[in-house]
Amino acid sequence: MDGAEPAAATDAVDATIENQALWLSAKRGSLHIGPAPVTAPGPNEILVRNHAVAVNPVDRLLPVMGDLIAPWLAYPTVPGSDVAGEVLAVGSAVTRFKAGDRVLGHAAFLEKSRNRAAEGGFQRVTVLLEHMASPIPAGMDFAAAAVLPLGLSTAACALFQPGHLALRPPAAGPAAGETLLVWGGSTSVGSNAIQLGRAAGYEVFTTASPRNFAYVQRLGAARVFDYRNPAVIADVIHAMHGKTLAGAVAIGAGSARACIAVAGSCRGRRFVSTVSNPISFDAAPAGWRRALWLVPALARLLAASASLALLARRRGVKTRFVWGGALVDNNIGPMIYAGYLPAALAEGRHVAAPPPLIAGHGLAAIPGALARLGAGVSAQKIVVTL
Ligand SMILES: NC(=O)c1ccc[n+]([C@@H]2O[C@H](COP(=O)([O-])OP(=O)(O)OC[C@H]3O[C@@H](n4cnc5c(N)ncnc54)[C@H](OP(=O)(O)O)[C@@H]3O)[C@@H](O)[C@H]2O)c1
Repeated sequence: MDGAEPAAATDAVDATIENQALWLSAKRGSLHIGPAPVTAPGPNEILVRNHAVAVNPVDRLLPVMGDLIAPWLAYPTVPGSDVAGEVLAVGSAVTRFKAGDRVLGHAAFLEKSRNRAAEGGFQRVTVLLEHMASPIPAGMDFAAAAVLPLGLSTAACALFQPGHLALRPPAAGPAAGETLLVWGGSTSVGSNAIQLGRAAGYEVFTTASPRNFAYVQRLGAARVFDYRNPAVIADVIHAMHGKTLAGAVAIGAGSARACIAVAGSCRGRRFVSTVSNPISFDAAPAGWRRALWLVPALARLLAASASLALLARRRGVKTRFVWGGALVDNNIGPMIYAGYLPAALAEGRHVAAPPPLIAGHGLAAIPGALARLGAGVSAQKIVVTL
């Protein structure tokens, strides 16, 4: 079922290991559980027995509009980006892990450069890239660890990639003397962006609902604003007076417009990394009604994107959409998963946030978990244990 050739592995893969996966059968196909091959890890890969997986908005959308999100995707595929588990075998060039290690990782099935079912998260065993995995420290359980990968990766892509905010990397050193705006701080992406921004030495301003103010402050935000307050943009601009903006990360509905307005009125880097589409596809139906729903939705997306581009141009602000898996293929992946996260997690400088909400056990619980995510979460990450 997988297109890639199995490569030589240092560890022999135990022939008694069995695999089951939550398959996405075809483009706009259905999810079903079935047997899956056990793929030997290639030289820079590890094979992991998953004990917990987290669900993300993209997992809900793949069966409905995977052809628009990732047109290259080879089917059948196995969705799922966030896994935590135990290493079963390592490839010949792997130096950071050995069988038995507890790890978390960003499963890279969705990336054009990877694009194989063996690297999907929603199965009992997954192949991970060594540079997209980190050890789980003692005292952190698998469910907590599984909340991190895609949120962390997306935040890192927005903050550190040269074509995005290009912030200085997380490292000890003097404060940067600049302020990062994270719009949507209580989201999974935002919770990690706040922590990464702080780790890199930036002051962080963020937005959230009032019930999550204390939560985002615990993650390191210096100031937090209620994004539903009609005066929020003016309030953030006022708070930025005398400060230098390092750029903004826009997460959530309406965030890009708000961040452009703020960045266009501040001193500093007028750059907004946008994480969310300007219109939501969450309500897209499956089946024959999809086309009826999509045509006006895509027209709205085009209109909203054009209006944002115009606003950004008028305000002298640059914007760029983030692809949260881009770090798989550049130096940000190893910088985060090998260079930063292991010590930051072990020393409590980066916490697994938002906290997990366990929605069930076993692959059969994943569709229900996806439906629960669709109903909305607040500063929580939905996790299924395996
Ligand atoms: N481009 C990519 O590669 C990529 C990757 C991952 C995610 N995403 C996108 O990023 C967004 C967040 O995903 P996630 O998984 O991090 O989200 P999530 O954790 O499921 O988001 C839930 C949170 O969203 C907050 N929220 C809702 N509406 C908001 C708004 N208008 N402005 C700011 N915050 C708002 C809520 O905050 P309160 O409860 O405090 O109100 C809630 O805590 C989604 O749009 C997702 O599709 C994109």
